[in-house]
Amino acid sequence: MDARRGMGGSLVGVDLRAEIDRLRKERNAVILAHYYQKPEIQDIADFIGDSLDLSRKAAATDADVIAFCGVRFMAETAKILSPEKIVILPDMDAGCSLEDSCPPDKFAAFRAAHPDHIALTYINCSAEVKALSDIIVTSSSAEKILSQIPRDQKIIFGPDKHLGGYMARKTGREMLLWPGVCIVHEAFSETELLKLKAQHPGAPVAAHPECPPHVLDHADMVGSTSAILEFAKSTDSDTVIVATEPHIIHQMEKAVPHKTFIGAPGADGNCNCNICPYMALNTMEKLYIALRDLEPRIEMEEGLRLRAKKSLDRMLAMASATVGMGDLGPARVTGD
Ligand code: 13P
Ligand code: SF4
Repeated sequence: MDARRGMGGSLVGVDLRAEIDRLRKERNAVILAHYYQKPEIQDIADFIGDSLDLSRKAAATDADVIAFCGVRFMAETAKILSPEKIVILPDMDAGCSLEDSCPPDKFAAFRAAHPDHIALTYINCSAEVKALSDIIVTSSSAEKILSQIPRDQKIIFGPDKHLGGYMARKTGREMLLWPGVCIVHEAFSETELLKLKAQHPGAPVAAHPECPPHVLDHADMVGSTSAILEFAKSTDSDTVIVATEPHIIHQMEKAVPHKTFIGAPGADGNCNCNICPYMALNTMEKLYIALRDLEPRIEMEEGLRLRAKKSLDRMLAMASATVGMGDLGPARVTGD
């Protein structure tokens, strides 16, 4: 028996940090983590970022193994962009309520009912839905990508109705919205947020665009997790109210320890309902086992991967460059 497995497979006595470090070198692995991961996972990661940063990193790494500490659609994105690499996810049940809200067959039927619309789709969706979409966006790239689409082009935006609604209000463009929500951002309470603001007059509210409009209406800044982190560092205010998943506060406290960061509250003012239950499935123990066994692994049928890659490649090109949609080939109105 491998001594590091301990008795009966128990990990009691295993120095997880040291073992993860050893395996990372042995496997030539890179550990990518989202800001919503537990602090100990953030601290051991090689790279932490928002969804766009993590996609770019997954596409560019020369590691043999990507250990993705985030949720399944993020690890799938890494596999789509780097098929030759082994991509492991510590817990394969780490899903996303937005992905669950958008089954591919229903999305395909919605597209078919609106043949003159292109599908601009949030990255928080399955590989199948990416394959049915024209262009993928993240919260940090959506506005730039939208600005490159001709104004007379009709658009379906899914699966997050709040991000889509925020973009529509901000850019003045009407879009057909798929009715999905993030259960984490949906749980913030406007009443409790107003109480918190009254207790901390002058403290700006930084909010993620996955929040509903009645929360965004009270925000001084709206942006992706990376943008919220940058705001927390650069604002003159020494107290910031943070309306996104609270694990990001770990990076804020590390970067600017003299400032105070307060997580926006849920309905009873004091619940844990803003912790993403999917992200929370990943643990140091599961990361260690995943690196040790190279399982659970993301596998994908090649035809699906190539279809999903088209819409992701469009995102990466449009998020970085000043190319218009026409430069990237015609949109797949039928999603094929
Ligand atoms: P970003 O990190 O891209 O802002 O996304 C937030 C999120 O909810 C990821 O699931
Ligand atoms: Fe999905 Fe929301 Fe969790 Fe992000 S925070 S993974 S959008 S459920």
